[in-house]
Amino acid sequence: MLINGTPYRSIWRTDEGRVKIIDQTRLPHRFETVQLQTVEDAITAISDMLVRGAPLIGATAAYGVCLGIVGDCSDNRLETVCEGLTAARPTAVNLRWAVQRMQAVLAPLPPVERLAAAWLEAEDINEEDVRANESLGEHGLGLIRKIYEEKNQPDQPVNILTHCNAGWLATVDWGTALAPIYKAHAAGIPVHVWVDETRPRNQGAHLTAWELVGAGIDHHLIVDNSGGHLMQQGQVDLCIVGTDRTAANGDVCNKIGTYLKALAAMDNKVPFYVALPGSTVDWTLDSGDLIPIEERGEDEVLQVFGRQADSGVGLELGQVSIAPEQTRAANPAFDVTPARLVTALITERGVCTASREGLLSLYPESAQP
Ligand code: MRU
Repeated sequence: MLINGTPYRSIWRTDEGRVKIIDQTRLPHRFETVQLQTVEDAITAISDMLVRGAPLIGATAAYGVCLGIVGDCSDNRLETVCEGLTAARPTAVNLRWAVQRMQAVLAPLPPVERLAAAWLEAEDINEEDVRANESLGEHGLGLIRKIYEEKNQPDQPVNILTHCNAGWLATVDWGTALAPIYKAHAAGIPVHVWVDETRPRNQGAHLTAWELVGAGIDHHLIVDNSGGHLMQQGQVDLCIVGTDRTAANGDVCNKIGTYLKALAAMDNKVPFYVALPGSTVDWTLDSGDLIPIEERGEDEVLQVFGRQADSGVGLELGQVSIAPEQTRAANPAFDVTPARLVTALITERGVCTASREGLLSLYPESAQP
């Protein structure tokens, strides 16, 4: 995607072979890039959420494996590096998927061949993610176009609600939930996005809004509790969200609060779509109940990060406490939306029902023998 006319991805290798990322903890106020030099840098970038979003975590972990075996490609080192990366965050399955894919390619090779093969495999993982997201964007475009045509009000935009950030910043490029929106905008379909701010970390306010400003797409930021009301008022035509892990039965685990939006959507007969690349499906889990839910630190709830409203061009960034000092907080970072609340899954291979049968119709190679 373009930033001020310059094409960027959320992670990339420079001409000198260095791995660079955008520090997402500083957006939207500062655009800063960071170089990952070691596997520890990659692990910290994932756990401290300089990079976040399921596909991007996987892509970062793939490069993390490369960085981790520079100078020592032994079996022991490979094992240690892969264990460390896998433990960086628990919920998004792409992390485990990418690390296991790297391990499966590298472990059978003689150590001397591993580093070169690792860079190639990591590049493949990154490129595949870009292609998958662009492709699911095309499939999602079809759904948005249909709704636009059914509305039969050419001047009225299609109103789309999204939660958290499942845009290009959450992937290597394009995004998942936002990819169909980018495609619709490019196709000349008027779209307007309701952006949930997404407490506690405000990925909607910080990242999704920033992406949409950059793309010139009409949007409003809303507090997380607004969605149900807007749906009752007929101001939401469809919801599209991402997922950090999709169980084999079509249950989806996404940013905390997604479940409540799906409930409100069902009650108001608003289509609720979930967009994902195949790397986000966990075929080992029969149900979303089994997905580990990350519990993050209390400070994310007790404080908010931002820029002082009156700081002018000085950009004074910082944390502000919003609760009594004695108050404790709980911070489950994800919830599970049961498949019955999901209208359909949008994948790089097409649109399917949120069910085992639906997923297997697109990914038949994942059927158990
Ligand atoms: O905690 P995060 O920011 O890594 O969580 C990311 C999400 O939950 C996003 O909504 C996204 O849908 C999944 S990745 C495209």
